[in-house]
Amino acid sequence: MSEKNIQLALFGFGCVGQGLYDVLHHSEVLQADIAKICVKDPSKKRSVDDALITFDKNTILDRKDIDVVVEMINDTDEAFNIVSRALKNKTNVVSASKKMLATYFEPLFLLQEEHGVALIYEGSAGGSIPIIRTLEEYYDNELLSSLRGILNGTTNYILSRMELEHKEYNEVLADAQREGFAEIDPWLDVSGADTLYKVCLLAVHAFGVILKPEEVLHLGIQQVSFNDIRYAREKNLRIKLIASAAKTENGYRVFVMPRFVRADDELYKVMYEYNGIEVEGAFSCKQTFTGKGAGSHPTGSAVLSDISALTYQYRYGYKKLKKLKKQLGDAYSTTPLLETDFAIRVYVRYENQDQLSLLDIRHVVEEYRSPSMNFIIADVGFQSLYVLKDNAQNTLFVCAID
Ligand SMILES: NC(=O)c1ccc[n+]([C@@H]2O[C@H](COP(=O)([O-])OP(=O)(O)OC[C@H]3O[C@@H](n4cnc5c(N)ncnc54)[C@H](OP(=O)(O)O)[C@@H]3O)[C@@H](O)[C@H]2O)c1
Repeated sequence: MSEKNIQLALFGFGCVGQGLYDVLHHSEVLQADIAKICVKDPSKKRSVDDALITFDKNTILDRKDIDVVVEMINDTDEAFNIVSRALKNKTNVVSASKKMLATYFEPLFLLQEEHGVALIYEGSAGGSIPIIRTLEEYYDNELLSSLRGILNGTTNYILSRMELEHKEYNEVLADAQREGFAEIDPWLDVSGADTLYKVCLLAVHAFGVILKPEEVLHLGIQQVSFNDIRYAREKNLRIKLIASAAKTENGYRVFVMPRFVRADDELYKVMYEYNGIEVEGAFSCKQTFTGKGAGSHPTGSAVLSDISALTYQYRYGYKKLKKLKKQLGDAYSTTPLLETDFAIRVYVRYENQDQLSLLDIRHVVEEYRSPSMNFIIADVGFQSLYVLKDNAQNTLFVCAID
């Protein structure tokens, strides 16, 4: 890109788009102009000059003078259309849309390679925490063994308040919705699906594996009760919704589920809407990154950082992905990289014993029954947990134990 101000086209002017707009106007270094903003709803009142707004994506995508398309919309398929068209036009793209990126990762990777353009997306996982570029660059030659993270601020906020205020899930969720910490439809956050898309993206940059989000287990916090939190407190533990990605001899164990976290764990201290990611490498040992994982300005600042990186021709090298693809050759797309055949120790709270027959229980370590709650701690076949994924009928609360 030349010395002139770079020309940005924004898609979306909601939470993230407006956050970017604000941080851009506070940036003293980045020389960038917003050429146009594409949005959807003509009836909405906007805080910017009408001349900047368009409702027709083609008026932007057909322009030759746009240096960077910044995609921040909440429609997965339309976001994919916009981003792929921009890449085919050889326009660099910044995106924050984790669901779109994780769902369409393979074609988006191929488009970048084919057209020699950049698609970068630091804002899509961990909000303001610069984790993707760190995994991509800093841990380039490092033998990374695992990463674990709290990647969703809404669930962490709910769990923190339940614990500190001794409240039940529904009460805190309703408060969080009133305060803007949770969506009116909170499913994406509380089911662990939002965390799932993020961990799929992190797995690409940590290990070079492209996983299909629908094949990765995600269990959420919808069934958590204050009884579970009290049990954790008695053991000096905290319940967190944890994304895990670890390399093993047999593949990659990647999943999202509630987990008891010990007091000496760095993630234990990550409270309220904050996110935390712990990365473990053979030589670097454990390192933890924390920060605001979402929100208008934190995400806007990650998007701004990506735009700035494009001014010095930054793009992801995908070295680990390319190395793995080379190693496996044609078998890359057919090799089952996701490891699901192992046992995991879990706490399962249940209402009646019959519910436990859903799970492949291999060894019961502890059993507790009382009029107020029943639980077991057991080693269960990991694959059997998939029956609980997206299962609206499920009332079991399952939480992993180290
Ligand atoms: N919010 C966060 O903290 C956060 C953090 C990280 C990543 N993200 C991701 O960033 C993306 C945007 O999130 P958000 O929270 O900013 O969403 P949002 O507040 O709901 O705003 C969405 C924006 O997208 C626009 N839009 C929707 N469909 C469109 C279309 N077909 N063409 C043009 N514009 C369209 C909407 O237009 P109107 O204004 O006309 O409705 C709106 O401006 C999502 O993928 C989200 O997952 C969000």
